[in-house]
Amino acid sequence: MKKLTSLVLFSLSIAQIAPAQDIEAGKIIFKNCAACHRIGDGAKNAAGPVLTNVIGRAAGTFEGYKYGKGMKEASAKGLIWDVEKIEAYITDPKKYLRAFTGNKRAKAKMRFKLKDPQKRRDVVAYVASFSKPMEKHAATQPDTPANSAMVTAASAVEPNQVCVQNADKEAYFFAVDAGGDSRLTGTLAPGKTLCTTAGDIAKTGKVSVFEKAEDLEGCTRIIAVGHVEQMRKYADFDRCRWSSNDS
Ligand code: HEC
Repeated sequence: MKKLTSLVLFSLSIAQIAPAQDIEAGKIIFKNCAACHRIGDGAKNAAGPVLTNVIGRAAGTFEGYKYGKGMKEASAKGLIWDVEKIEAYITDPKKYLRAFTGNKRAKAKMRFKLKDPQKRRDVVAYVASFSKPMEKHAATQPDTPANSAMVTAASAVEPNQVCVQNADKEAYFFAVDAGGDSRLTGTLAPGKTLCTTAGDIAKTGKVSVFEKAEDLEGCTRIIAVGHVEQMRKYADFDRCRWSSNDS
């Protein structure tokens, strides 16, 4: 009986010691990747493609990089990078591309494997720290979120809501956030408004617009809670006209 107790305790302490992932450790491990990859602002393609903002990016699509056939095939089949997929890919790129494409002869241009699972977690955490945080499921959410309050008149805003209205001529993908779990996303047709349902203690909220649901870059405004911000004109991922900077 005594033996069993110590065994249980032992495995408990292992679980406590094992770190989830460590960005600082990942930075050192990334030196291996840096032989072929650049990351950060203004990074350029090298032997491998730029890894800035790779999370959420469709595989094999960084501009100006000549990907191998296997990667292009995986991309055409819908491979979009996330933390888990990159961890699996860097374990054995060729094996991963073959499994993903179902093509037993697919080749991988990346000839590097990282066998240690902890090192993989750490290095991918470091890589992910150069990607913009994004609602995990934004791209897969239906166009019109069922639980959001869609209003058309500014007067309908509750004092604890944050709303954004699409005052442009085309449909765009929007997000509203008043803190906590209030973030909602949806594609808005011209003239439509999206409001958070749950406001909490926050005094300010955030509204964002993206060209498409799968885009990671867009325009964001911090606005007062109880306010409808109008997105007047979407020009570029970082150039938009908002009602709050009109005056
Ligand atoms: C010896 C060079 C080399 C090393 C080292 C290397 N890579 Fe790569 N990597 C490549 C090449 C080449 C590609 C393009 C693969 C293709 O086209 O099939 C690539 C592709 C990738 C991609 C896909 C990017 C995209 O745009 O689709 C990711 C993610 C990636 N590498 C992560 C890593 C990480 C993380 C490390 C370090 C643990 C690493 N690589 C180490 C050469 C390398």
